[in-house]
Formats: sequence, structure tokens, C-alpha cells
Amino acid sequence: MGVLQVIAGPLSQQFSQLGTFSQIGVAIASFLFVAVALNVLQQFLFKKPNEPPLVFHWFPIIGSTITYGMDPPRFFKENREKYGDCFTFILLGKKTTVYVGPKGNDFILNGKIRDVNAEEIYTVLTTPVFGKDVVYDCPNSKLMEQKKFMKIALTTDAFRQYVPIISDEVTNYLKRSADFKGKSGIVDIPPKMAQITIFTASHALQGKEIRDKFDETLADLYHDLDMGFSPINFMLHWAPLPWNNRRDYAQRTVAKIYMDTIKERRARGETGAQDIMWHLMNSTYKGDVPVPDHEVAHMMIALLMAGQHSSSSTSSWIMLRLASRPDIMEDLYNEQVKALGADLPPLTYEDLAKLPLHAAIVKETLRLHAPIHSIMRAVKTPMPVPGTKYVIPTDHVLLAAPGVSATDECYFPQPELWEPRRWEKDSPLAPTIIRNVPAEEDDEKIDYGYGLVSKGANSPYLPFGAGRHRCIGEQFANVQLQTITAIIVRNFKFRNVDGSDKVIGTDYASLFSRPLEPAKIYWERREGCQL
Ligand code: HEM
Repeated sequence: MGVLQVIAGPLSQQFSQLGTFSQIGVAIASFLFVAVALNVLQQFLFKKPNEPPLVFHWFPIIGSTITYGMDPPRFFKENREKYGDCFTFILLGKKTTVYVGPKGNDFILNGKIRDVNAEEIYTVLTTPVFGKDVVYDCPNSKLMEQKKFMKIALTTDAFRQYVPIISDEVTNYLKRSADFKGKSGIVDIPPKMAQITIFTASHALQGKEIRDKFDETLADLYHDLDMGFSPINFMLHWAPLPWNNRRDYAQRTVAKIYMDTIKERRARGETGAQDIMWHLMNSTYKGDVPVPDHEVAHMMIALLMAGQHSSSSTSSWIMLRLASRPDIMEDLYNEQVKALGADLPPLTYEDLAKLPLHAAIVKETLRLHAPIHSIMRAVKTPMPVPGTKYVIPTDHVLLAAPGVSATDECYFPQPELWEPRRWEKDSPLAPTIIRNVPAEEDDEKIDYGYGLVSKGANSPYLPFGAGRHRCIGEQFANVQLQTITAIIVRNFKFRNVDGSDKVIGTDYASLFSRPLEPAKIYWERREGCQL
């Protein structure tokens, strides 16, 4: 009896606990069922005729987050077929209105300052990484002035200095990298291109002093800053999680490195330098207010981070595309030999203009692999969509996806084909922007406070965005990517490891899309390799 009681006591407790658990389970299941049923009913019964159609979804809050997140371009394409160019979906509980095509790009990217706002969306992610008082942690008018300061440093004279710096960085990297030792080999290319990008960008934009620190402390610190850009941080940017603690430590440390450098340069009484830090140190806001040192430091971080992901992803795609089309890699090599001479002398900025296929490689790669697939804006006043009955309310977020028109058959024949020669005027694959629509030079220009920029209102090809938030790094990126490509092409031949023309898929898990990894290619030194 006593023994039975000893056993039965805990058993009956366990059964009653099990009973409680199953009651909780039933309650949760019923709650979910009711939530799903109400959500579905609401979508059918309460359609708002003045709002764009809502993408059907089963679960509230989650909405279409998962299908969008797995493959945004496919999500846009499929829903455009179902709902048209303008539709709304639920992204983490937020009504997000996508408007694709040139009209949509224009509506969102050239939206008026009273109607659309970028900083409200991005600040949670960028301010802990860049630091206070710059980019999205200040009024838009201040950002426009900051973009002017940054852009002034990106002149033709500066680019003339950058080409030899970038060439030397690539050459030295290839010489010392264990992955490129010997006559041939196989290499996972994206991590190599990430390193080449940071070395070339930091040296060109921030000077040798800062570049050298990337061999020591700065590479790890920037890596920790990078972790702050994971999409989960749109929600958890504030949380005292390990990666956020490392992000905050890295931000303080990197900013201090820049601020110490600024102080040293002032103390030295340096004059006449051309690098960006020097320009920023000597810039003044309206009313003759000098830019404070901490803002110079934070802009330096922002500049390097803004370019790093986009350029690194693009250079990886270029190499992967060349490995899938060795014939084009040969054409590039021959273009250099023809334009610059068989001895392939050191590259200059002026040489780049003689290499149109090199420019087309970058252009075509950005058409298919633009690293920024979604550009978002908060809606500040209800926005009527011209030519429709829709008015976008202020509780929606707007999402532009210029990649959709860049891969639309209406503008680009055989849109999925990577064919750099389509950018030649007489090519049968030439985009309609070259054939029918005015070239960018004839397009309407506007000055938001950082120089004239094309509105791009008619263009289906906008990898660098448009409007007041348009990229200021486009020319730098082109110089950097063409120079990196030229140096690699003159030294190596690439092909896919299996000899096929396949290209790896895209990783959309981080904020900027990039090739899935590992992405291995086979390389072989050219005869007369200069390394
Ligand atoms: C903005 C793309 C390289 C600095 C943008 C935007 C796009 C873009 C699409 C607009 C974002 C928006 O409207 O919300 C690219 C691509 C690059 C590249 C595809 C390379 C292939 C660079 C580089 C730098 C840079 C190298 C710096 C040297 C900036 C800055 C902005 C910007 C400062 C302005 C952000 C704003 O005004 O809100 N970029 N970018 N980018 N980019 Fe780039």
C-alpha cells in the first residue's frame, strides 16, 4: 500500500500535468484556428477598394514574410502576375505596398519629402552601426549636405589616383594569397572578393594609414559592425544580445580610431590632401558650421559600409559569371591587348574609357544581380497613385524593386540571359532604353542639394536608385569594379569546376543579396601572368 502510494502519487501528478499541458495545447490550437479564420474572412469581406490588392495569406502578422524572404524577386514576379504592378503584402505585421515597373520606381524613389521618408525605416539598423548624427540619424536636409561633402571628394582627379592604388592592392593580394599559389587551382571566390573589396576601398577612400589597420584590428571590428546589419535587427536592434554588444563595442572603437587620426592630422598641420577624410574635416554646413569630428568619423564608417556589401557582392557575381562564360573572359583579355598594347602596361583611369566591354560587364551583372532588391520608404501623407483609384495610406510602407523592371522582357530581350554585349547599340538584345527611350544624359535632372542627378523617371534600369537617396558611390564603384576585373583578367583564366555554364543561386538571407556559398571556380594562370 505504502509502495503503491509512493508510485501513484507522482504518477497522478504527472497525469494531471499532462492534462494541463494538453489543455494549453488545445487552447493554443483553438486560438490559432480562430486567428487564421478571422484573418482569412477579413481578407474576403473587408476589401478596401481604394487600396492596392492584398496578397492572400493564412497567418496574421507573419503574412507573406516567409515567401518574400526566401526569394524576393520570385515573390515580386508571381504576385505581379496575379495582382498587377501595385500590390500590398504583410511583412512582419506591416502592410507593405510594392509598386514595380518604371512608374512604380518613379512614384517611390522620386517621392516628395513630405510624402515619403527613408530614415524612419533604416535608422534602427544604421545608427548603431554608423554612429549618431549622420545619414539616417539626422534630418534629410543634413543628409543632403553630407552627401554633397562625400561626393565632392569623388572627383576625376581622385579617381586618377585611385586606379593605380586599386590595381596594386589587387596585384599584391593575388601574389600573397595562398589560394592563388601555383599554376592552377580551385577557389571559393566570394570571400576572396570581399577581402579585395575592403582593401581596395579602404586604401582608395580612406588612405594608406587606415588601409594598413585592416591587416590588424580593423577587419575584425568591421566584421562585428556588419553583424548589426542582419535583417533580424529590424526588430532586435535594441536587444542586449551578444552580436549587438560586439556591434556597439566595434562602433565605439572604430569611431575612436578615426577621431584619433583626425586629431593627429590636425596636430601635424597637414595641408592639401585629397582623401575623403580630409575633405570632410574641412567641410562646413550651411551657416559656416564646421563638421564635428565625431560626424566625420561616423561618415567614414557609413561610406565604407555602404560600398562594401554592394561592391563585394557585385565583384563576386562578375567572377562567377566569367567562370560560366570563359569566352567573354577571353574577349575581355583581347580588349585590353587591343586597346592598351600586348605588354599590358600599368592601368590608368584614362584606360578604363578604352575598355567598353569591361564597363558592360559591370552593367550587365548589376542588371541581373543588383545587391539591393528592396528599397523601402515610410508613407507620411496619403499618396494617390496616378492613373489608378488607389491611395496609399500612412500606415503602409512603400517598397520599390528596380530589379523587376531590369529583368522584364518588355525592356530587355531574353531578360534572364547574362549578355554584356547587349549594351552595344546595335545588339539585337539591346535594351529598349538604348533603342527607344532617351538616354540617361537626356533624362530630366534634379538637384537635391548634392549636385545634379538624373531622375531616371523613365528608366527600367536603376541599380543605383534614384531621387534624393540616389547612390553617390556609382562612379567609384564602376572604377573599382572595372579595375579589379581588368587586373584579374590579365592574370587568370576562369571556368566552372565542372566546365558547365551554370551559375550558383542567390542568398537572400542577409540584407544585401549575394551568391550562395561556397561558390567555387577553377582558375589557371595565363602565360605572361604579371604576378
Ligand atoms: C545609396 C546601390 C556602391 C554610397 C544607394 C542606393 C542604391 C545603391 C540602390 C539607394 C538606396 C535608397 O534609395 O534607399 C549601390 C550599388 C553599389 C553601390 C549597386 C555598387 C555596385 C556604393 C559605394 C558607396 C556608396 C562604393 C560609397 C563610396 C552610397 C550612399 C548612398 C547610397 C552614401 C545614399 C543613401 C541615402 O541617401 O539614403 N546605393 N551602391 N554606394 N550609396 Fe550606393
